[in-house]
Amino acid sequence: MTFEIRKVCCIGAGYVGGPTMAVFANKCSNIQFKVVDINRARINAWNSKDLSQLPIFEPGLEKLIFKCREKNLFFTTDIESSISEADMIFLSVNTPTKTKGIGAGKASDLKWVEASARQIAEFSSSHTIVVEKSTLPVRTAETIKKILESSQNNQTKSLTNKSYSVLSNPEFLAEGNAIKDLENPDRVLIGGEDNKAISALEGIYLNWISPEKIIKTNLWSSELSKLTANAFLAQRISSINSISAICEETGADIYQVGKAVGLDSRIGNKFLMPSPGFGGSCFQKDILNLIYLCEFYKLDAVAKYWQGVIDINKWQKTRISQLIINKLFGNVSGKKIAILGFAFKSNTNDIRNSPAIDICEDLLEEGSSLAIYDPKVTDAQINNALENKIQRFKSSDEKNLLNIYSSIDDVFKDCDAVIVLTEWQEFSFIDWVKCAKVMRKPSWVFDTRSCVNKQEVLKAGFNFWRIGSETHHIL
Ligand code: UDX
Ligand code: ADP
Repeated sequence: MTFEIRKVCCIGAGYVGGPTMAVFANKCSNIQFKVVDINRARINAWNSKDLSQLPIFEPGLEKLIFKCREKNLFFTTDIESSISEADMIFLSVNTPTKTKGIGAGKASDLKWVEASARQIAEFSSSHTIVVEKSTLPVRTAETIKKILESSQNNQTKSLTNKSYSVLSNPEFLAEGNAIKDLENPDRVLIGGEDNKAISALEGIYLNWISPEKIIKTNLWSSELSKLTANAFLAQRISSINSISAICEETGADIYQVGKAVGLDSRIGNKFLMPSPGFGGSCFQKDILNLIYLCEFYKLDAVAKYWQGVIDINKWQKTRISQLIINKLFGNVSGKKIAILGFAFKSNTNDIRNSPAIDICEDLLEEGSSLAIYDPKVTDAQINNALENKIQRFKSSDEKNLLNIYSSIDDVFKDCDAVIVLTEWQEFSFIDWVKCAKVMRKPSWVFDTRSCVNKQEVLKAGFNFWRIGSETHHIL
């Protein structure tokens, strides 16, 4: 007999929980989905009438919310009743890297996962399938199971109908492409031991995904596969970024090299774009988790190998900041620099671990003032991210060190340089002649994402640096 899923709860209305449940609700009209969060402001934003006010920007998301919200998709802070009525609960809470205590700087902070497990133990009322969606260290399912089981023991089993199955079902969506990734994933991975629970979760996916794409493994393989996939992807970016530096020194071109290398079918042509470094909430955190695991099992050589991927990522950001300062005569103090893009990649408003934060901090530290424009990131997000540096380096003449603009047209005035840090499509259509007229000379464009129109930039009389390519000096 299969276990019928009628009501689903998702704990955590973030970048994973929100879009995932929106797609599930759209694909499974016979199931009710409730997304809960302790953050009331976030839930209010998910419920806002004006869809441009949703807490997350993701192409295609507004359409799904408009279609499903208040029909079979609900956003609520009523955690107790949502858990109590649910047949299946997804855990999509945040799992950032620990900042203090044992494993600080490497291990994930499982405070929120543990709190969610305790909420489930308290409020669930019958058999509940608990599904890990957040990226978690290997063997976290064991912790969740223990919390759930110990709560059963506390409550005199005979008096309750509570029981649990724990599954791992890692999410592989990439932000900015989340809806498409959820609608048409390369694979769906389900880890677990309880066949009935696995079939129930598989039943949800079978509404739109073909069975051969659904892979079943044991719990630990599922958890480790997610960490490994992210580590491999991040490793590719550190690889191409390391080669971008060699290209700049030797006169080779990273796009020609990337194309030649990517045409080898064993390597493939995706994920070979050089950048100012990978950002986002997952890559660094997951590699650090892997390193922590290696150190725990005394696999020091393996830990060192993966640490290299993180080291190159950090180095790439510092390398770019230093290069920009060098090109501007070794001095940016008193200069104004335009920053185009603050999100960690295009098509998202997420700035977690964005390379823009590090590069802006480096420039502020050298005394530059910044004029920042991003089409989707809010002023508050940018202010928050750079607040510490701004406080430390307050300019003596009370000049604003941080200027944030809502229109790209206003950002260039009196700037000495433009740095493109996110590959927003609109940056390929900038009228560089117009920009040159309002900037100070000699003016520079630094393109870390290869997204501006090189011919137009050069025609407008700029000095031009593009990642992994030859530099063009006009003056
Ligand atoms: C990643 C994984 O792709 C996804 O499967 C997992 O579920 C979560 O982590 P995400 O971080 O949202 O997704 O975005 P992704 O597209 O992977 O980009 C990560 C970072 O790598 C970004 O900063 C991006 O700019 C950078 N990147 C990506 C490159 O520098 N070059 C590339 O060729 C691709
Ligand atoms: P992700 O990118 O993994 O989705 P986010 O930080 O965007 O991470 O979202 C995680 C969400 O989980 C946050 O909105 C946070 O408030 C929520 N959350 C954390 N702990 C709990 C909890 N115990 N109960 C409900 N929501 C929680």
